[in-house]
Amino acid sequence: MEMLLRRGFLWQSFEIYRGMAGFFDYAPLGNNLRRKIENIWREFFVIDERVAEIDTPLIGIEEVFIASGHATSFVDTAIECQNCHRVYRADHYIKEKLNLEVESSIDAIKEVLEVYDLKCECGGKFGEPFPMNLMFSTKIGAGKGKNAYLRPETAQGIFIAFKRLSNYFREKLPFGVAQIGRAFRNEISPRQGVIRLREFNQAELEFFVHPAEKTHPNFREVASDVLTLVDKFDKTHRITLEEAVKKGIIANEVLAYFIGKTRRFLLAIGIKDEKLRFRQHKDDEKAHYATDCWDAEALTSYGWIEIVGIADRTDYDLSRHAKFSGEDLSIFVPYPKPISVKKKRAIPKMNALGPAFKSKAKKIAEALEKVEVSGEEVEVEVDGEKIRLTRDFFEIKEVEEEIAGERVVPHVIEPSFGLDRITFTVLEHSFDKDVVEGEERKVLRLKRRLAPVEVAVLPLLSREPFTTRAMEIVGMLKKAGFYTEYDDSGSIGRRYRRYDEIGTPFCITIDHQTFEDGTVTIRDRDTTGQVRVKISDLTWILRELLMSEKNIEGFGEKFR
Ligand code: ATP
Ligand code: GLY
Repeated sequence: MEMLLRRGFLWQSFEIYRGMAGFFDYAPLGNNLRRKIENIWREFFVIDERVAEIDTPLIGIEEVFIASGHATSFVDTAIECQNCHRVYRADHYIKEKLNLEVESSIDAIKEVLEVYDLKCECGGKFGEPFPMNLMFSTKIGAGKGKNAYLRPETAQGIFIAFKRLSNYFREKLPFGVAQIGRAFRNEISPRQGVIRLREFNQAELEFFVHPAEKTHPNFREVASDVLTLVDKFDKTHRITLEEAVKKGIIANEVLAYFIGKTRRFLLAIGIKDEKLRFRQHKDDEKAHYATDCWDAEALTSYGWIEIVGIADRTDYDLSRHAKFSGEDLSIFVPYPKPISVKKKRAIPKMNALGPAFKSKAKKIAEALEKVEVSGEEVEVEVDGEKIRLTRDFFEIKEVEEEIAGERVVPHVIEPSFGLDRITFTVLEHSFDKDVVEGEERKVLRLKRRLAPVEVAVLPLLSREPFTTRAMEIVGMLKKAGFYTEYDDSGSIGRRYRRYDEIGTPFCITIDHQTFEDGTVTIRDRDTTGQVRVKISDLTWILRELLMSEKNIEGFGEKFR
């Protein structure tokens, strides 16, 4: 954290007013790193899938969160010290002080406080535990206004737009919808840097599937990947995804597919496999909408932290929004082949209907022809009037009818990524120390394409003609689209170390030979090795190096 603050990755928000817990600014380097992580996420979860990305409002009207259940269920239990008035999230405080996992219900917390006589850090006694809804509330419009909330997850914007979205995908399952953006939670006592923020960044994918077909067309791509799974009974497995599905450890193939894809994404951005595991939620831990949930957890200096939640939300959200909005949020799914079913149909007896119903008889007969008969009587509705008809008014005929398909409310599998925790984990897992030329070096071994500063251009000496030539090269590289910095202050060794610390993969040095043969050196952050290349080849060589983890030596040989 010291390095991140000092070098411009993260800054405390509202710093000149002494800050506020749970808010961080993304400083220039951190902002660029997070954006690059978002773009790789897009490659994995949008471009490479049948998925479209949308962007919906950060403010949601009250109706949305009443239907979604957040207005009543998105609650944590808080405890307040009666002496110093500090407020804590109860389950976290209990975990910290007693190393006990406890359900976040008022009763469970009360019991633990009593049994263990748990006190505040100041020694004070806690008052009654109380619930706190984590949503920030606001008003839309003037006067009394309309109740609204800042969204606690991006997902709801997707469920609300489902009718339009299913239309966009021509009502063909499976399809997914992604959203990247801010989410807001009024966390009770955030004390872990960017791990627990009150305003944070999510990348979420809602993948809609047929409830009876929880399969993914690309499952085979990840089926033989071996992962560390910790199931809900705390049993650890090193197992392939295929086996995990077969043994019922992971409930279905879509969940398993996204667990596998999540792991591949996390490895691609530099998270270490040996510090990554997938942990299944216990039955009392799941969110109100989930039937099964697996967290990707990373080992950091804060211990194992959840960085991604992968949940089977079933049809919970769509069914609730259908009920509360009155809109049909089902999809028509055709059968592979129409199926024929036997049905009993009513054949109106006009000679009985005519005398009994006079002018209405014709409309009743039309209505009768449409109903399916299940007993001895049927009810039809004509001009708003319900009319019961006995067997005196119709015959029954058995017919074969073809049915083309059925209406279903899709289930949704949701991988939900916390970008702040992921960015932080990438930084921690990339941070390294070694010894170069007898001196300790701090180096951020970021994947090359994630580096916030991709190239640093360094004149060997901070005087003409070195400086002007270096500035020309900076201009050329910026035009080519590289994040480039110029630095001429301090010894060349100091400058290399400055860029090693922020993870810059390549430093270009302009030296005496540059003016003799038009070449510069490229120095590699990880090996500290150098090669000499022609300035005219610099752009394409850097592009190749940045998109791969190729060794620079290969490029030097050809052009030396
Ligand atoms: P926790 O149990 O740690 O509060 P959660 O189970 O509430 O997290 P989810 O609701 O599953 O988290 O949210 C999805 C993802 O969003 C998480 O995996 C996490 O990376 C991220 N996230 C959730 N809350 C926060 C927060 N307060 N600050 C930063 N990231 C968060
Ligand atoms: N969409 C999952 C979550 O934010 O909790």
